[in-house]
Amino acid sequence: MAVSKAPQPFLVESMRAADLDAVMEIERVSFHAPCAAQVFLEELVRDWAHVDVVRDLSTRSIVAFANYWLVADEIHLLNLATHPLARRAGNASRLLAHIADFGRRHDCRVVTLEVRRSNAAALRLYRRFAFRPVGVRPNYYAEDQEDAIVMLLELTP
Ligand SMILES: CC(C)(COP(=O)(O)OP(=O)(O)OC[C@H]1O[C@@H](n2cnc3c(N)ncnc32)[C@H](O)[C@@H]1OP(=O)(O)O)[C@@H](O)C(=O)NCCC(=O)NCCS
Repeated sequence: MAVSKAPQPFLVESMRAADLDAVMEIERVSFHAPCAAQVFLEELVRDWAHVDVVRDLSTRSIVAFANYWLVADEIHLLNLATHPLARRAGNASRLLAHIADFGRRHDCRVVTLEVRRSNAAALRLYRRFAFRPVGVRPNYYAEDQEDAIVMLLELTP
């Protein structure tokens, strides 16, 4: 993936099938137990599922993605990752801001997610967005039985 160092214009847009390889590259380098490509392809055809990407417009590269569901008046964030070469540049924040706006436009009350207890970077990111911890799911992650922290963001109109 080509990543430019200078601040660049970016675009948050819906993932297309042609973006699968770029999204899978980010998934593979971001998680010990990455999802299969088929998971993303299935998300593209579910009415309630959304996968958004951040595209660096100077290189046309995809630098981050988020997968979330809109169910009734809640958004559930299932997956969020930024390519390691594009981290600490506000890309996950762009996606979270976009998701929160989407939620408000669809009269959602809350955004919820699960995050590993040990994932300090993600916990800090979510707290900055005013997510608060509301519960623990013990042994949530099948690969290593780590607990998940459940976090919730209340969306104000
Ligand atoms: C967590 C993750 C998505 C953050 O993506 P990102 O694009 O780097 O995030 P941002 O640049 O928007 O960061 C915003 C803020 O989050 C916090 N943050 C992000 N990464 C951090 C890190 N490694 N250490 C400490 N704080 C961090 C900081 O407060 C940061 O603001 P700052 O850079 O001004 O200090 C990214 O590290 C990642 O893909 N990790 C692997 C996959 C993962 O764990 N996903 C979350 C699953 S729940």
